[in-house]
Amino acid sequence: MPIIRPRRNRKNSAIRNLVQETQISTADLIYPQFVIEGQDKREVIASMPGIYRLSIDKLLKEVEELCTLNIPAIALFPAICPTNKCSHAQEALNPDGLIPRSVRAIKQSFPHLCVIADVALDPYTSHGHDGIISAAGEVLNDATTEILAKMALVLAEAGSDFVAPSDMMDGNVAAVRRALDLEGFDHVGILAYSVKYASCLYSPFRDAVGSHLAMGDKKSYQMDPANQREALREALLDQEQGADIIMVKPALAFLDVICKIREQTSLPISAYQVSGEYAMIMAAVQNGWLDESKAFLESLLCIKRAGADMIFTYAAKKIALLFKNGALDLQSQKEIYPPNSDSLHRATKPPIHKSASV
Ligand code: PBG
Repeated sequence: MPIIRPRRNRKNSAIRNLVQETQISTADLIYPQFVIEGQDKREVIASMPGIYRLSIDKLLKEVEELCTLNIPAIALFPAICPTNKCSHAQEALNPDGLIPRSVRAIKQSFPHLCVIADVALDPYTSHGHDGIISAAGEVLNDATTEILAKMALVLAEAGSDFVAPSDMMDGNVAAVRRALDLEGFDHVGILAYSVKYASCLYSPFRDAVGSHLAMGDKKSYQMDPANQREALREALLDQEQGADIIMVKPALAFLDVICKIREQTSLPISAYQVSGEYAMIMAAVQNGWLDESKAFLESLLCIKRAGADMIFTYAAKKIALLFKNGALDLQSQKEIYPPNSDSLHRATKPPIHKSASV
């Protein structure tokens, strides 16, 4: 007979809640949203069921709902009209561009919502790369960083709480920090996509934004999924350069990376459950092979367990709705206690102690 029985700590929901080490709540979630030009537009993205490209008026309606669900933050990505794209991403610096206008509109009506604006050129370049390309076909680092710093200023000026350089250029965080501080935006934070792998899981995102590559791949700037030590190097570099939050992306296949970085920095860590991760789960859900709520909750919980403080996820609204509707404890994903349908445990008689019968 075993003396040590770990199952004692799993006996009922009261005990399971007491010993539970990790929780997820709506307050941990950041909802990425895609914006398009126009009025009253809501475009389906086939590879991302339940996620849409929204015109600004529709986006504001959505944001209103997100606020009632207590979702604390939104990350904005533009689907730029192809006629506004060029090899130099000129439109990224337009103070009246789609994203600056979106940020202003959101901040005007919902000032408390945290708005995170992506700093990268790929939605704006005709070739889909995150940088300026030389005649030899090389993605130029320093020329790109210079533009990114200007882009960050435009986004800060519009009212973004965080700018999020996601381009993987060397020195991008320092360049953005310097530009922001020089112009009096010392209160605007940098959420650095420090550890971004050259993953196949961004494909649905590129459908959404319309940023599929015209040529090549992103392996000369995004990281090799084989590498873990390099991730630490990237994270610590961004910390030195003034990042306020470190990002690891994708999330679920890179939990070891999150875990290692957690041990090495005291900065908050965010993880991005990317479009491909969302699409994989949704495809299984649509086939009836996985339970939607359980699949998302489990994956998000595990991302937190690995060490992420916050998660970018396209499932943010689904999860927030679960909490709101009382399917889960309001504050976290702990089991509802007392249980409503835990008949097995309710039926269990209190143990009879031998001494009591004397
Ligand atoms: C581009 C960017 C990408 C994502 C966020 N910012 C894609 C890419 O690098 O091609 C992907 C997010 C997702 O897949 O959900 N700077």
